[in-house]
Amino acid sequence: MREQLENIKKLAAEELAKCSDLKVMEELRIKFLGKKGELTSILKQMGGLSAEERPVIGQLANSVRADIEKKLTERAEALKAEAAKMKMAAETIDVTLPGKTPPHGRLHPLTATLEEVKEVFLGMGFDVVEGPEVETDHYCFEALNTPKHHPARDTQDTFYINENVVLRTQTSSVQIRTMEKRKPPIRIISPGRVYRSDTVDATHSPIFNQIEGLVVDKGITLGDLYGTLEILMKKLYGEKAQIRLRPHHFPYTEPSAEVDLMCFNCGGKGCSMCKGDGYVELLGSGMVHPKVLAGCGIDPEVYSGFAFGIGLERITMGRYNINDMRLLYENDVRFLNQF
Ligand code: DAH
Repeated sequence: MREQLENIKKLAAEELAKCSDLKVMEELRIKFLGKKGELTSILKQMGGLSAEERPVIGQLANSVRADIEKKLTERAEALKAEAAKMKMAAETIDVTLPGKTPPHGRLHPLTATLEEVKEVFLGMGFDVVEGPEVETDHYCFEALNTPKHHPARDTQDTFYINENVVLRTQTSSVQIRTMEKRKPPIRIISPGRVYRSDTVDATHSPIFNQIEGLVVDKGITLGDLYGTLEILMKKLYGEKAQIRLRPHHFPYTEPSAEVDLMCFNCGGKGCSMCKGDGYVELLGSGMVHPKVLAGCGIDPEVYSGFAFGIGLERITMGRYNINDMRLLYENDVRFLNQF
């Protein structure tokens, strides 16, 4: 029996020394010291010993148990210390590593262009004003010298809510709202959404954005309109940008002009990009019609003004060389990331 006990002690010491896992160690504890363990099974045989042998073997068995318990504790502590050391090593922060840059958002090309346009006009003393998108027929057409059966209404396919309420087809409605409230000098721009019953394609959308401009004061001329728009276009397209005014017709301006930008591709000579014209159409403009001024209580004998309406999508597409308007609305980050 003495031999058996010595054997257990030796075996336990060997196995514990090899053990590198706390779970395996618990298994070893049960194997040697548990209720059904090896030491217990030997102690159960003590009944067969003589009265002299019993205390000697008992003492030996106790010392073997104490020895195994001590080794178990020591090994467990060593393993825990080692695990903690490894964890510390794994978690070490290298403060010299470069930081992780979070992905940066940026302005949508339409927003970026609008911000620049606003900046140019704010710099020239304009205010930015807004108007409603659901508008009365009066502000959208009538007060702009475009009565019910005027043929100019056909050029803007209108969403009618009822006979007198529309989704505005143009930001020009804000001209009237402004002139009714303010007296000259007036210098405003008014950006916002407009609606037309158009089918979606590369250059049309039922919802798009315009920026309206209006200046009313004493002595305002077509030269002021030209100069103002030239400053804007040079800011948006670079110092080389050149514009031209081409006669046109809008019911609310007299005279009216379309403003064209000289084609960057051919420098005005005519190429496939500008369809041989040398210029590309940018926006509508003109001198505010005397009837429109008078309708808002401004005396056309004293005051004059100019107005313009820019398609935000059109000037954005021109600036960034975007050939399909739908790309501006799809919010595909693979597209937007390029700007
Ligand atoms: N409202 C016109 C359009 O939507 C653009 C326009 C033309 C605005 C002439 C004006 C203007 O203020 O004077 O096509």
